[in-house]
This record gives sequence, C-alpha cells and structure tokens, in this order.
Amino acid sequence: MILPIYTYGQPVLRKVAEDITPDYPELDTLIQNMYETLERSEGIGLAAPQIGLPIRLVIINLDVISEDMPEYKGYIHTFINAHIVEYDETEKDSSEEGCLSLPGLHEKVVRPRRIRVQYLDEKFEPHDEWVDGYLARVMQHEFDHLEGQVFTDHLTGLRKTMVKGKLNGLLKGDFRCSYKVKVRR
Ligand code: NI
Repeated sequence: MILPIYTYGQPVLRKVAEDITPDYPELDTLIQNMYETLERSEGIGLAAPQIGLPIRLVIINLDVISEDMPEYKGYIHTFINAHIVEYDETEKDSSEEGCLSLPGLHEKVVRPRRIRVQYLDEKFEPHDEWVDGYLARVMQHEFDHLEGQVFTDHLTGLRKTMVKGKLNGLLKGDFRCSYKVKVRR
C-alpha cells in the first residue's frame, strides 16, 4: 500500500522518534508499505516520521542509483532503532540533497564523510559499523529525521535565508509533486 508522505510543517517531522520492540504491530507490513511508497516517489531513503510515525525505522534503497554508483548494486536495507553514535569530524564534504518531505528543494549540505551507526536489521539482529562516502551521507540525512531534523536545518548564512521563502511555500501547500502527500492544514 502506498502511504502519503508528510511534508514540511507536519509536527511529526520535528519529534525525536522512539525505539520499537519486535512486537510492534504489523511491522512487516509497515516496512513493505514503506518500500512501495519509496519506489512510487522515486526516492532513495524514507524514515518512518515521513509517513507520520514517530518511530526509529528507516529504509534505504541505493540499488536505484547503482548505474551511477555500481558499488551500491543491490543495496536495499532496513534500519530499526537506528542511531548515529559517532561522527568523524576530520573530513567533511558538500553535496546536494533533496527530501521527499520538502518537494522542490535541493541544496548543498556539508556533512562528515564518516560516521558510526548502531541499528537492528529486519531480524532484530544488532549491527555496529563505521560507514563512509555516499551511504554515510544518506544515512545522516535519514537518521536526522529520527531526531526531528530536516536537511535545511544544516544550512547557514545566505543559503538559509534563501530557502525561507520556499519553506513558507511548503507550509502553505504551495508546491507540486508527483506523489501523494499529507500537508498540515
Ligand atoms: Ni528526507
């Protein structure tokens, strides 16, 4: 089932999301629905708050960009109770990001190149890994959603000022996109 994507201004996007337990109701169906929703909206990652649920659940599909980045061929993963536990601040880079909850906005964001993450996979097996490169960027973007943050929060100075008008437009529902959304009314 395709779920509506909650857009900028929805309070759930500003909540710190909670860990879940294996008995969370209909978790498999929820994850399946999130993959269908991600595919329909042609995104590479989706966090549960973006479909209105303040829980620490994220899916990432980098297989869809593997023509450009072959190292991510087959990379489709679910992250439960995901947390970033360490940032390697020694090296940062800047790259353009967008977000299904902020349709029409694309801005360069500076982020550390390497992070340490802890999460459970779909079988609730624990993982603790250092991740780098493009995956580290996507994880930071998605896991930020679990902390009530969106990518424009990282902008500074002139860029921050420049996006204000667009963010106000999103609040008013003044945008177009090709997938189903839920705007705050
Ligand atoms: Ni996003």
